[in-house]
This record gives sequence, structure tokens and C-alpha cells, in this order.
Amino acid sequence: MDELRLAVELARAAGDVLLTRFGEHLAYEEKSSRRADLVTEADRLSDQLIVSRIAAERPGATIVAEESGTHAGYTDERWFVDPLDGTTNFAHTYPLFCVSIGCERGGELVAGVVYAPKLGELYAAQRGSGARLNDAPIRVSPVSRVADALLCTGFVPSEFEINIRHFRSLSQVSHAVRRDGAAALDLAFVAAGRFDAFWEFGLSPWDVAAGTLLVREAGGRATAANGSPLDFFGRQILASNGRLHDEMCERLGRSDDGE
Ligand code: IPD
Ligand code: CA
Ligand code: CA
Repeated sequence: MDELRLAVELARAAGDVLLTRFGEHLAYEEKSSRRADLVTEADRLSDQLIVSRIAAERPGATIVAEESGTHAGYTDERWFVDPLDGTTNFAHTYPLFCVSIGCERGGELVAGVVYAPKLGELYAAQRGSGARLNDAPIRVSPVSRVADALLCTGFVPSEFEINIRHFRSLSQVSHAVRRDGAAALDLAFVAAGRFDAFWEFGLSPWDVAAGTLLVREAGGRATAANGSPLDFFGRQILASNGRLHDEMCERLGRSDDGE
């Protein structure tokens, strides 16, 4: 089975598992010393399902999964798995959460799937073949000025002080800045033209791998916040429709300097 078909199948299966737990009030644990870093049984069940199937179908692939860690392989294929992105939303029955599965080969992203089961939306991209939402092609937005843009960001506690400055300054010059709480889905929304740009600091590779391919295949750009090449392990991303990218880099640079 090719990577995209496998990723779609696993995202759907994991999404079904999440739906069986959605709305149950509410068993979560604080995962780390980070305040409100929640994990539920659903995160773990979804992780197990996805990781065991990738290991069976793609022997030798490395799997980097949020809940079960890195499963080292011996081929040049690497999978990034967020079994439940938006756990806090999920735990509070807020429907913006998703499964995110990205696959790279030889260091290049080849497939990415983001599935938001409560929205009934499956986003899929294959390198060189465009991005789709429920099988219909999607494109980034045509907006060309931040002044006309709907933006999105997210807040990791360790990055709060710096990002609150960006949030304030960009809120003042755009139509609005949302904070939806599921980074992979935020990226999918950029690919679909709902958000014109998204940025966040403090992210992990499983948050951004699949969404990055979606954005690029939908015609947009994804880099570090200053415009330098994206490194999944670099903990930050700026994704946009492309037209806004330089202006976003410049504005993030300015609010970084306290302006
Ligand atoms: C989190 C979400 C959130 C983002 C955090 C992530 P999780 O992922 O994507 O939007 O702000 O940085 O850690 O923990 O729900 O998988
Ligand atoms: Ca996540
Ligand atoms: Ca997660």
C-alpha cells in the first residue's frame, strides 16, 4: 500500500477511536510539568493503533510518535504521528481536534494527512499531486496584504511572553488573529484558504509534518518564523498562502524587537 493510502486509512481508523471517546467527561492526566499539558486514554489508543500498523506495513521505517516516542528504523522512510492534536479541545468537547500523520522519504515529505473526525474533514496531500479536502482539490487564499488577512497562532506556555507581543501587534493590523488549539488543523486551514497565515513557537515535528505538505501542495509556503528553511525539530513555523509570507516575516521580526 502506498504511503498516502496507508496514512488515510490509519487517520480514519484512529479518528473513529477518538470519536468513541469524545464527550466522555473526562479522564485526563497532566503529562509533564508543563501546566495543562493533557493526555487522555484516547491519545494513547490512537498512538498504539497507528504505530503498530505502520510498523507492520512499512518494516524498517522510523516512526516519531508523540505518545510512544521514536521507534528507530533502518530505511530512509520516517513517519511523524500526532495521534490526537488538540487534546485540550478534545477533553473539553470542543470539536477542533485531529489526527496528523506525515511521511517523508530521503528527507522529503511525500504524504500528509490531517483528519478532523468531528468536522468530517479529511485533508490529504501527496508530493507533487496537490492537496485535497474530502477528495476535492484545495488552494491557499488569494489575500495579498496582512491588512486583509485572517491569521491564526497558538501558545505554548514557555513561549507565552514573546508570542503575546506578536499576537497583540498582528491583531492590530489584520482582520483578526484566532487561537484554535490544534496546530496540525490550523495548518490544514491555511491549505484550505480559511486562514491566510499561521505561526507558532514551541511546536514538535508531529505537529507540523503533515500540515506542511498540505500547505505547500495547496500553493503556500512554510518556513521558520524569520523565513529561513523549515526544520521540523526547530520548534517553530510560519505557514502562509505565500503572498503574505514576506510581510509576515517582517512583522514577526518587528514585534520580536518589541515594536
Ligand atoms: C498542541 C496543539 C496546540 C499547540 C500546542 C501543541 P497537542 O498539541 O497543537 O494547538 O498550541 O503547541 O502541543 O498536545 O494537543 O497534541
Ligand atoms: Ca500536537
Ligand atoms: Ca497530541
